[in-house]
Amino acid sequence: MRFSNTVQRLEGSGYKSWDVHMRARQMKAEGADVLMLTIGDPDFETPPSIVNAAFESIRSGRTHYTRAEGEPELRAAIAAHHAQTGGQPITAANVAVVPGAQCGLYTAAMTVLQPGDEVIIPEPVYSTYEPVVGATGATPVFVNLSPASGFHLDPDALAAAVTPRTRAILVNTPHNPTGAMLGPDEVEALADICLRHDLWLITDEVYSHFAYDRPHLSPANLPELADRAVVISSLSKSHAMTGWRLGWVIGPEPFIAHVGRLLACMLFGAPPFIQDAALYALSHEVAEAEAMRQQYGARRALVCQTLTDAGPITCRAPEGGIYVLLDVRQTGMSGYEFGHLLLDKTGVALLPGQAFGSTLSGFLRISLTAPDADIQEACRRIHEFGSSL
Ligand SMILES: Cc1ncc(COP(=O)(O)O)c(C=O)c1O
Repeated sequence: MRFSNTVQRLEGSGYKSWDVHMRARQMKAEGADVLMLTIGDPDFETPPSIVNAAFESIRSGRTHYTRAEGEPELRAAIAAHHAQTGGQPITAANVAVVPGAQCGLYTAAMTVLQPGDEVIIPEPVYSTYEPVVGATGATPVFVNLSPASGFHLDPDALAAAVTPRTRAILVNTPHNPTGAMLGPDEVEALADICLRHDLWLITDEVYSHFAYDRPHLSPANLPELADRAVVISSLSKSHAMTGWRLGWVIGPEPFIAHVGRLLACMLFGAPPFIQDAALYALSHEVAEAEAMRQQYGARRALVCQTLTDAGPITCRAPEGGIYVLLDVRQTGMSGYEFGHLLLDKTGVALLPGQAFGSTLSGFLRISLTAPDADIQEACRRIHEFGSSL
C-alpha cells in the first residue's frame, strides 16, 4: 500500500543517536547498574495542588467537549502569564491551547508553511524540528552555530541564509541542548531580518522558566514584531507536567484564528480537566515550580564543578535550560562513540550530540532530570572515566 509523502518526510536525521538510550534501557531492564541521563523528562512529581485541581475538575463533571482553541479562562491566564513574564500585553484572542509545545510546533508550522517554503533554523537543533517542518513540505535550512561563540547566533550567517523562498525563522531559547539564551543583540538582529524580509519568527520557549544568570528574553517582547511573532511554550518542564500534554501557542489574532480551525480538525479541544489543572498552575503561586528551578540550578553547578577537570573532557555552564553539554572533542572520539564506550565502561547513559545535528558530533547531552544522587554518582563515574583516557 502507498503512504503519503507527508509521513515519509517525518524521519529526521538524528534518530540513530538514540540507540545509546535504547541500549541503556535494555541493560537496565536486565538488571544492570545503569544511570540514565538521556531524556529531558523531569524526575520531579507534578505538584500535588495541580493534581488536586485536576481531580476536582473531573469530579465536578468537566469531562465533556471543550472549545478547539482552549477554554477562555485558561487562554486569558496564559495571556496574563505571558505579559507578567516580560511579553507584550496580549489577550485571550492571541492564545491557543495545545497538547504540549510539540503540538504547538506542528500547529504553528502547519499554519504558516507550505511546500516549497524554507525555514531558517539554527543548528544544533531540537530533534523534532526537522520532521515537523518536513511534514508541511517546507525545507529546513540549517545555519550552524559555533561552540566558540557559546552557540550564539551569527546574524550575518542568518541573513545570508535568507532566499526568496524563506518564510520563517525558528529559534529555541533557552536552547535545547546547548543552554544558550538569546541576548538583546540577537533579538534585535532577528527582528531586523524578519522585518526586512517579511518573515515569521517562531520561538520555542519551553525552557524559559530556567534562566540562571539573567532573565529570559523573548523576541516577541518587541512591539514591532506583534504581527509576525509566534511563541510556543508549555507546562511540561516548568511544572513537571510532561505527561499532561498542556502547552500553548501565542501569536497575532488572524494566526490564532487559523490555529483554532486547525485544532478543530486535529483535536477538538484539550481535555477540560487538564485545562483546569493548567489554569490552577498559572493562576497560583506554586512553590514547587520555583523549588524545582533552584534544584536544576544546583544540579547544573554540581555537574559543571565536577566535570571541568576530567582529563580531556570538559563542560561549560549552560545559561539556561535543564541540560549540560559534555565536550569530548579532545578525546578524538565522536559523541556517539564516547556514549557507547561510557555506557559499557561505567553504566552512565548520555545522549550523543549528533541527535541535534553534526555541529555537536564531539559533544554529549547530560540531562539534569534525574535524582541528585544519580547525577552525583554519574558525574563521579564520568570524571573517573575521563581522567583515565
Ligand atoms: C526544545 C523543545 N521544544 C519542545 C519540546 C516538547 O515539549 P512538550 O512536552 O511541551 O511537548 C521539548 C521537549 O523536550 C523541547 O526540548
